[in-house]
Amino acid sequence: MSEEKYQEISRKTAELIANQLRTKPDSCLGLPTGRTPLACYAFLSGWTQSRQLNWSKARSFALDDYLDAEEHQTFAHYLQTNLYKNTNQQSDQQFNPRFFDDYDGVIAKCGGLDLTVIGIGSNGHIAFNEPGTARQTYTHCVKLTESTRQANSSFFGSIDKVPIYAVTMGVATILSSRLLVLIASGERKKKILDEALNGPVTPENPASYLQEHKNLTVLTDW
Ligand code: GLP
Repeated sequence: MSEEKYQEISRKTAELIANQLRTKPDSCLGLPTGRTPLACYAFLSGWTQSRQLNWSKARSFALDDYLDAEEHQTFAHYLQTNLYKNTNQQSDQQFNPRFFDDYDGVIAKCGGLDLTVIGIGSNGHIAFNEPGTARQTYTHCVKLTESTRQANSSFFGSIDKVPIYAVTMGVATILSSRLLVLIASGERKKKILDEALNGPVTPENPASYLQEHKNLTVLTDW
């Protein structure tokens, strides 16, 4: 991974989102959190502030969130801080799975996901669909694995402060998106991503389900 390459894939991801919003201003976007999308959100924030992008009709759907975190450590807060506050999107167009009994129903009512950006965890998780998750899963609550909590511990100081429970779009929810963009940054993602894209489709590597999607773009910085 080089910083230059990371900026390049982040710009490309941001361009895909920007093009989506220009082609269909009322698009429904599925948006990830984590370290990987930060530069993409910085590009989108800059373009919106220089009035090159208009979010007024777009709907944003967080992929997942913690259930037992303090508000400032939720993904809702992350998206607010890193993206939403820099856009002209109204807060009632920003959806989070914590607040809906039927998130998939809400997504369907809005017309379905047009473009969803996802990251990949070092154990192959997509959103918070951990190894073992079935293909036909919709938005549901999960108990996070030790490895995922470890990977996210830098946001909390130590692993014992990392939440244990989360809510996530299911695999079927993610695969229902018309377009999917997977972004992966850093050598530590290389092996699991290679297995996901070229190995068998298996619940043990949830990212492998992405092989079943007809419109997947993969962007990596190595
Ligand atoms: C997190 C999120 C995922 C994210 C992944 C990778 O736990 N639930 O949506 O894609 O892990 O995060 P990072 O980009 O920090 O490596």
